[in-house]
This record gives sequence, structure tokens and C-alpha cells, in this order.
Amino acid sequence: MDFESMKLNRTEFGQASNQGNVISEEEAFELLQDWVKNEKLIVHMRQVGHLMREYAASIGLSEEDQYRWFLAGLLHDADWEKWPETHCHKIIEELEDRSVDPEIIRAIASHGPRYFGVEPVTPMDKMLYAFDELSGFVHAYSLMRPNDYEGMEVKGVKKRLKDKTFAAQVSREDIADASARAGISVEDLIRFVIDHQPNALN
Ligand SMILES: [Fe+2]
Ligand SMILES: [Fe+2]
Repeated sequence: MDFESMKLNRTEFGQASNQGNVISEEEAFELLQDWVKNEKLIVHMRQVGHLMREYAASIGLSEEDQYRWFLAGLLHDADWEKWPETHCHKIIEELEDRSVDPEIIRAIASHGPRYFGVEPVTPMDKMLYAFDELSGFVHAYSLMRPNDYEGMEVKGVKKRLKDKTFAAQVSREDIADASARAGISVEDLIRFVIDHQPNALN
């Protein structure tokens, strides 16, 4: 795929006056229902949304902030299935049309700096980038284990990360880059995912 078509070529997203604006969970799921047929992609977004909410809670953010972090995770790949060539463009425009908080839109715009050309700056940006690939990777690992997440250890995940043939589409480079930018070790990120991801779909 030509990554050039994904470049956003801008660094400003949404309107400052929309700060704090969100859409309801119902509205967000309606949007996903309209745009996404692939159940695995829905699972991925729900998992990342859950991790984002839990992480926001773990650093003591308010319930409103936790919900904003959740929305960024839940919607970050909403346009991927329908518009893969210009992934990220459509969801950003949609959320701008719906007057959503610019911080949420920015976080979505920066979840793949190599693709979209937008640097993760805020904690929300950095954690979305940090959880995205790793969440999918740990989930892929759970699917090949007899008891999925039960008894999963950080070292087991690390071993799979070193095995380049396992979940080969997951970029190890992005995982390392995101961890460095977030200032959180890959081990600690994996620990967080193992501890929280099992409850993501409840
Ligand atoms: Fe994405
Ligand atoms: Fe994703």
C-alpha cells in the first residue's frame, strides 16, 4: 500500500471551541456498525478503547477524561475497512463534523506517525500509539494459547515478539518506537495489556 495516500498533511484537528465535546457510547457504536463489518476489527477497537480507559483511570484522570480516552481508542480504526487507502482521513472528518473534542481527534490522527505524518504529543496520543499494535499482538498470542489470557506472562509475549514469523504483520519497530515515545518500557506496557485486556469485551 502506498503510505503517501494516508498522509494527513496537517497538524491542526477539530475546533478549540469543541473542547470537552464527546459523542455518546451509543452513537459511537452506531458509527462502527455503519462502517465496519469485520468483527475482528471491532474487537480490536473495543480492546484498545478499554485499555485507554483503564490507563486513564490508572493515572488518576477524571471519569470524563477516561471516557475521552476510551472514545479515541474505540474509534481509531473506524474507517480502516471502508477506506484503507486513506485510513484516518474519513474518521477525522466525521468527528470534526460532529464537533468532537479536538484532543480526541488529534490522538486518532497521530496513532501511526509513519503513516499519517502526525507526531504523538499529548499523553492520550502517546498511549493510543503505544497500545494499538501491542494490543493486537497480545490478542493474537492469546488466540494460540490453550487458556487464552489465563496465566499469560510478559516473557511469553516477549518471546513471540522476537519470533518474526509470529503475527508477522505487527510492526515490532512501531512497538519499540511507541514505547520509547511514551517513556514506558515494552515490558510494562505488556503487563498492563495482560492485566486489563481480558475484560475488554465484558
Ligand atoms: Fe490504524
Ligand atoms: Fe488499530
